[in-house]
Amino acid sequence: MAKINANVLVTRRVPQPALDMLAEACSRVEVNPDDRVLAREELLAAVKGRDAVLCLLTDTIDAGVLDAAKGARVFANCAVGYNNIDVAAATARRIAVTNTPGVLTDATADLTWALLFAVARRIPEGDRYTRAGRFKGWAPMLMLGGDISGRTLGIIGAGRIGTAVALRSRGFRMRVLYFDKLQNEALEQAVDAQRVDLDTLLRESDFVSVHVNLDAATHHLIGARELAIMKPTAYLLNTSRGPVVDEKALVAALRERRIAGAGLDVFENEPELAPGLAGLDNAVIPPHVGSATIGTRTKMATLAATNLLAALRGERPPNIVNPEVMAPSPTGRAAMQT
Ligand code: DGY
Repeated sequence: MAKINANVLVTRRVPQPALDMLAEACSRVEVNPDDRVLAREELLAAVKGRDAVLCLLTDTIDAGVLDAAKGARVFANCAVGYNNIDVAAATARRIAVTNTPGVLTDATADLTWALLFAVARRIPEGDRYTRAGRFKGWAPMLMLGGDISGRTLGIIGAGRIGTAVALRSRGFRMRVLYFDKLQNEALEQAVDAQRVDLDTLLRESDFVSVHVNLDAATHHLIGARELAIMKPTAYLLNTSRGPVVDEKALVAALRERRIAGAGLDVFENEPELAPGLAGLDNAVIPPHVGSATIGTRTKMATLAATNLLAALRGERPPNIVNPEVMAPSPTGRAAMQT
């Protein structure tokens, strides 16, 4: 097949199969040679003259970057979340934005459960204790954690990932509550989940797990007020986006043991942590690795490449976020509005 005459930027190295797809299909593909986030000035310079950009959640794609990328047809985000992109600004410039839903659902749900176990059963804390030579033998009161089986799991945001987390509770005979603007009948049938308001979920859950998109409505959805409603024996899990939780308020709640613990894969100002968080034994804090399996990251990158190539070919990308930029062509194929 003839190559697409297109100049493509990949803002940071992603799994090779995706780079191979792009190199095979496009006349020019440039990958940031350094394994680091491009600084703003570098990003502004790098996007210039590109037809398409494969970008990451660590790239802030705002109006300035979109203007610098004048002529670009698509920004293909290698993430399901796209809060790093000003979609309205892209739409105003008729630039397609795509994301990678579905392929990371299982990996992220698995990581959520890993956090649940880790924080409730104090695994990282116990590991540090043993390595430090402090383990002097079995003791009846050593490292007592929270019970899991038979407890109540509260899911905030019952979309793909929230649902997958809830379904994994089946082996643990848990009661499942969920809070979402939409009813999820499949979830209700599968695990007898009950849709409740946010305060009821916070009041009754032993594990509160957050799975919403980050937008103006969900920024600090969990703050001091919400943390105060939770049981002192309850745990908070967040594998969505850091700013959904007021991290400063969470540190205070954890420090004062107003809740039992937190498992956080995401942070409000990544890679910075709120002061005091790193010193808390009742917080488990991996570095945003929810989707970090070889298989999942490969699927994310190849899906981003698929979306990017579709847009360059004038086809509708499978995961377009702003379909308004597409218009049906006389041949029935979707084409970019110009
Ligand atoms: C996403 O895709 O939004 C995830 O946060 C990446 O791990």
